[in-house]
Amino acid sequence: MSDLVNKLVCENLKALKPYESARRIFAGGDSDSEIWLNANESPFANDYDVEPAHFNRYPDCQPPSVILPYAEYAGVEKDQIVVTRGADEGIELLIRTFCTPGKDSILICPPTYGMYAISAETCNVGVSKAVLNEDFSLDIDTIKTFKNKVNLVFICSPNNPTGTSVDKAQLTEVLEHFADSALVVVDEAYIEFDAANTWTKELAQYPNLVVLRTLSKAFALAGIRCGFTLANQDVIQSIMKVIAPYPMPEPVAQIAAQALSPKGLALMAEQVDYLHGQKEHLKQQLTMFPEVTLVGDDKANFILFRHPLKQAIMDFLVANSVLIRDQSKQINLDNCLRITLGNQQQNEKLLSLLTDFFAQQEPLA
Ligand SMILES: Cc1ncc(COP(=O)(O)O)c(C=O)c1O
Repeated sequence: MSDLVNKLVCENLKALKPYESARRIFAGGDSDSEIWLNANESPFANDYDVEPAHFNRYPDCQPPSVILPYAEYAGVEKDQIVVTRGADEGIELLIRTFCTPGKDSILICPPTYGMYAISAETCNVGVSKAVLNEDFSLDIDTIKTFKNKVNLVFICSPNNPTGTSVDKAQLTEVLEHFADSALVVVDEAYIEFDAANTWTKELAQYPNLVVLRTLSKAFALAGIRCGFTLANQDVIQSIMKVIAPYPMPEPVAQIAAQALSPKGLALMAEQVDYLHGQKEHLKQQLTMFPEVTLVGDDKANFILFRHPLKQAIMDFLVANSVLIRDQSKQINLDNCLRITLGNQQQNEKLLSLLTDFFAQQEPLA
């Protein structure tokens, strides 16, 4: 770092390690020659039309062509939504809107999605932790001790990377406990894989509830960067003070509108069904390999498993152009690897490589 940069860079950023996204870890990779099962993306690349007639104009900040169908899809009012550049921007906007730098904190429940902590750290906002119980349920007693100490409580359901959905009674207790002191943000990035457990219908009952959604997972649109923050009007209006003037590029809005059309929704549902089928098969096959233990639950589009040879498995798969995600640095996930569900051909390739890998091993002691 040059002297000038070192002098100027924000104090809280000096020690910060950026989020190790799947794409950064294997930067320069090629999805045509490699099989990417490492970022919980969809294996489907669906077709869309883009009409350039208005590309010379700034786009709508919150295009009705996206907001209206999403409101209908999610079962909320149109003024209970903000559309953002992915759910990641929703996370950052919540922190920037509701936490004062150098003073306030958020609460996270690890092992969980890494961007809550990174976003808070980049904003010089504190990060408190209430580690999940051994079965990955919420540690309610510990969470409750943070009353009046945090402004936002992030709860991911289904949780990345454990695949577990939060228990309704537990989340209700958290919402009620923090009713007058913090917003409870339920990250539903994977909710289409566990649709019955959405919290959007509870918005009317809990003024402190916020739900995050995305088109990156079940809708197979990680590349367009489109996410949604759903909350009561006063929360939304506060976020609208902070959001960039033109967060939705016109081509993104056009594609999102098509994905949210009746035809787009039907395609998404069909692809979710297909992935559920792949998940059952993959889980069943994985457990046939020696010493594989499935970890957590399967409520999302990935499978987490533990193996004493996790590093050798990773290395072997990477050497054969199949990328999965090492989760072993996360608390209580030692030796854990996460596999995103691919299409049948990709999953079969993975299983055949694992068969080769285990055939080469000495019987484990
Ligand atoms: C739990 C969770 N929330 C949010 C995101 C980010 O979603 P987006 O692509 O919409 O920014 C991810 C991405 O992997 C995720 O796993």
